[in-house]
Amino acid sequence: MHLSPAQASVTDSLQPDVWQPLLTTSALGRGDIRYEYETDSTNLQLRGMAQSGAPHGSVCLCEMQTAGRGRLGRSWHSPAGCGLWCSVLLRPTLQPEDAPLITLCTALAMQRAILASTGVETRIKWPNDLVHNGKKLCGVLLEVSCEVGKLHHVVVGTGVNVHAGAYPRELAHQATALCEAVDHPSRARLLAAYLRALEDVIRQLEQEGFSAILPEYEAVSCTLGQRVRVSGGMELTGFAEKLDDTGALLVRDDDGQLHRVLAGDVSVRGVMGYV
Ligand code: BTN
Repeated sequence: MHLSPAQASVTDSLQPDVWQPLLTTSALGRGDIRYEYETDSTNLQLRGMAQSGAPHGSVCLCEMQTAGRGRLGRSWHSPAGCGLWCSVLLRPTLQPEDAPLITLCTALAMQRAILASTGVETRIKWPNDLVHNGKKLCGVLLEVSCEVGKLHHVVVGTGVNVHAGAYPRELAHQATALCEAVDHPSRARLLAAYLRALEDVIRQLEQEGFSAILPEYEAVSCTLGQRVRVSGGMELTGFAEKLDDTGALLVRDDDGQLHRVLAGDVSVRGVMGYV
């Protein structure tokens, strides 16, 4: 295996024996672990592991994906050694209708983890993009397995741009990477901090509900209080007023009518640009 200088750095390695000693979790990162140099998609791999009975807290991560998946059917650029391309298996005690809230909670967990491990402040573009200096740093893709009244498992995929080359050059106007904000970011430290934050926030969601998390989410949102354009499924322009207790975005159009926008099938952008 050929390693770039970024990969070769010990603090940046994603080998389990580097990041597992940093864990402070009780379950996440302590189930089955699959670390590969190259895979199609960590979400796809982890879904297979889930179907074979992998426990809550299992993790799949890799250096590069050949078929990385993004939201709304898009692909996710995942070159070798440049990012944290990672999926975590949750078997939470929640209902299928709570799945959109897990998406919001994941973004919040990564926001906390980036701040704790690098000092970099990010904001959440609803529902779950993390943004730094007005550009996208991280995306979240949730894949849910459920039947009526029963949530079987959730594959929580996150892609964080860490090193130079993480995103295509033509996206430079709307994408950024951690290395542009801080010297020598460590993927191992970020992963350990993220697993801890995700464990904490999912436990809070299970025990206290989303209303306990909402104030922190609102405080780091860069969508609320902005004029936004909603597209793909629902088309409208208006003012992003607040979230309801299901995590839906309430947007008031120019005629004063309030619309409830669900995360699954729309893109929301500021009227003036990506954020
Ligand atoms: C988005 O479109 O913003 C979501 C991007 C999610 C990318 C991550 S990378 C690890 C995991 N595996 C995938 O195939 N996708 C997610």
